[in-house]
Amino acid sequence: MATSAPITGQAPDPTRAISFPPGFLWGTATASYQIEGAAREDGRTASIWDVYSHTPGRVLNGDTGDVADDHYHRWREDLGILADLGVGAYRFSVAWPRVQPTGSGPANAKGIDFYSRLVDGLLEKGIQPVATLYHWDLPQELEDAGGWPVRETAYRFAEYAGIVADALGDRVRTWTTLNEPWCSAFLGYGSGVHAPGRTDAADSLRAAHHLNLAHGLAVRELRGRLPQEAQVSVTLNLHQVRPVGDSPQDVDAARRIDGTANRVFLGPLLDGAYPDDVLADTAHLTDWSFVKDGDTEIIRQPLDFLGVNYYSPTLVSYNKDGAEQGSDGHGASAHSPWPAGDGVVFHQAPGPKTAMGWGIDPTGLYDLLVRVGREYPDLPVVITENGAAFDDRIGADGLVDDPERIAYLRGHLSEVHRALASGVDVRGYFLWSLLDNFEWGYGYSKRFGAVYVDYETQRRVPKASARWYAQVAKTGTLPEAGDSPS
Ligand code: FCB
Repeated sequence: MATSAPITGQAPDPTRAISFPPGFLWGTATASYQIEGAAREDGRTASIWDVYSHTPGRVLNGDTGDVADDHYHRWREDLGILADLGVGAYRFSVAWPRVQPTGSGPANAKGIDFYSRLVDGLLEKGIQPVATLYHWDLPQELEDAGGWPVRETAYRFAEYAGIVADALGDRVRTWTTLNEPWCSAFLGYGSGVHAPGRTDAADSLRAAHHLNLAHGLAVRELRGRLPQEAQVSVTLNLHQVRPVGDSPQDVDAARRIDGTANRVFLGPLLDGAYPDDVLADTAHLTDWSFVKDGDTEIIRQPLDFLGVNYYSPTLVSYNKDGAEQGSDGHGASAHSPWPAGDGVVFHQAPGPKTAMGWGIDPTGLYDLLVRVGREYPDLPVVITENGAAFDDRIGADGLVDDPERIAYLRGHLSEVHRALASGVDVRGYFLWSLLDNFEWGYGYSKRFGAVYVDYETQRRVPKASARWYAQVAKTGTLPEAGDSPS
């Protein structure tokens, strides 16, 4: 559990083999809308991502999740791939509109059956299922009734959580309520680069609160239905915010971005209150009267671990002309996802970038883990997503060689190891992603998989990084740099 060891990490030696503690959990992650396809089968109704992706101009190349990786039909083959990888766990998400098509009322048995078969298949192969209840596919009917800015959506989510817990709770031990509520709230209702594509800063704050409330209500439902040993968590895409200058304005820009990136969630979820500076920084948009008496008590539920997703640090400075500038890496829009971002300039980390244009900086993951370890020493952490997109191609030999991804993973895992050595209680790591898939507003143009997917034929081709990661998962050790598996 928590350790009080002082936090004093040394820079990793890139030539040394690095071993993780026994029991460290290795996994891969996916999400329903990104891989399943079968968008209109077996009673599934439209989610906000179906409607958004079918709206011209929203997703690059007009791509949609209608077919995606056709995982809904090919899940057996995909389980075989997971078994070959030798991972101990698989993080998947449940599509709400498959399981409870209108977002209220009874369960859809066929939708439940799909996940039930998947869970049984995982357990047969000795792979631990890790279920996320919400990875962004809100039933469109609930969006039509107001979506996340509306309080009722939180109660709908809790009901849905109960349905899934009743169906899978006898076999799924590890649960995550929400994936990256920051994206749901601020990209979905602020900048509009994610579904449902609305652009109202006050609504994005309302959405953030109702997502927090949904989490708290859902944890109560889960605890009431799951066996005592069940593990319940939430996954945040915590931003490692760094000022690039040291002027007081740069430091203040970092504080403001940290407020609505991180503390608007960490505060109520783990400390039982919204931070005063976040309330003050957003007072020009809302008086926060949508936070009702008792809400913060509901939201702060004991958790078994915190899921953290990390890809790249967030570098900021202050621009005295007042306008927000630069790319925060979350997609271009005339509207900002940052309610307190006036005058903030976003920079990408220098040096090599992924195909997303995100600067590669593994020390950001170390710093983030150390921060969480310091602020929440009793809460174990699981890295529920980390990985990178590159322009992978099938070579003449039929193989996909992706040395940049291996280097990315090695670099980040070295930093995870350094965080462990510094006393942070990190329990596991999930590579994003098992398969190339529908990368939201970027459609199929960005390949994050350890396994290449030929979208014409649905053929799966494990990349060199899949073989590398299999060796890591099987041995718990990072091979020495340059010691690439074949
Ligand atoms: C995260 C999402 C995941 C995937 C990765 C690249 O924000 O949770 O679905 O898109 O980014």
